[in-house]
Amino acid sequence: MKPACIFDLDGVIVDTAKYHYLAWKRLANSLGFDFTEHDNEQLKGVSRVESLKLILRLGGKQLDDAEFDAALVRKNGWYLEYIQQIGPEEILPGAAEFLTSVRAQGIKVALGSASKNAVLILERIQLLDQFDAIVDGNKVSKAKPDPEVFLKAAEELAVPASACIVFEDAVAGVQAARNAGMKVVGIGSAAVLDQAHFVLPNFAGLSIADVLARFA
Ligand code: BG6
Ligand code: MG
Repeated sequence: MKPACIFDLDGVIVDTAKYHYLAWKRLANSLGFDFTEHDNEQLKGVSRVESLKLILRLGGKQLDDAEFDAALVRKNGWYLEYIQQIGPEEILPGAAEFLTSVRAQGIKVALGSASKNAVLILERIQLLDQFDAIVDGNKVSKAKPDPEVFLKAAEELAVPASACIVFEDAVAGVQAARNAGMKVVGIGSAAVLDQAHFVLPNFAGLSIADVLARFA
């Protein structure tokens, strides 16, 4: 069975994780508490709503429903402001070349992202046409580590979960891939992503043949 590749977006394909962090930190500060990069690891890969719940828990703060919704809108407004100028130069090292190497082998490619801004970002970095299927935060109802996003991506590609290789930078995302019964390559720190099958700092110099050899 030919494998398929499913890519997370933020922190895997494009360097947007830092902008999510800055927008959440700004929100936390506006609510009267701080939010560190260490805390942020727990939020990576997690949906907007679940992220806000986690932040409020960390800050010991409660919001009523209207305030909660307004906070989500504020955070997304700041995030959109930060990514306004984003372009292909924010693609992470080797990611575009790696996608090309995957497609050159006739291997199907899907996006599996929690973000509701995914299509906008793919358009801005000019990679939208590299994906055979896009499953984003508008299509799923359960946040990572629930496997829904990756199972939907496999379904859209018509490839069984066991043949899918997921690329993830987030602890919750690695767990979601594992929960889906998929292989998972961590992108980032091996100390943080210790549940991945293996971890790489980024895609620089990597081709799909190298990855397939690791799973052979
Ligand atoms: C994930 C990010 O990809 O998408 C999270 O890692 C983010 O940090 C989540 O909260 C939801 O993104 P958005 O763009 O819908 O707010
Ligand atoms: Mg990510």
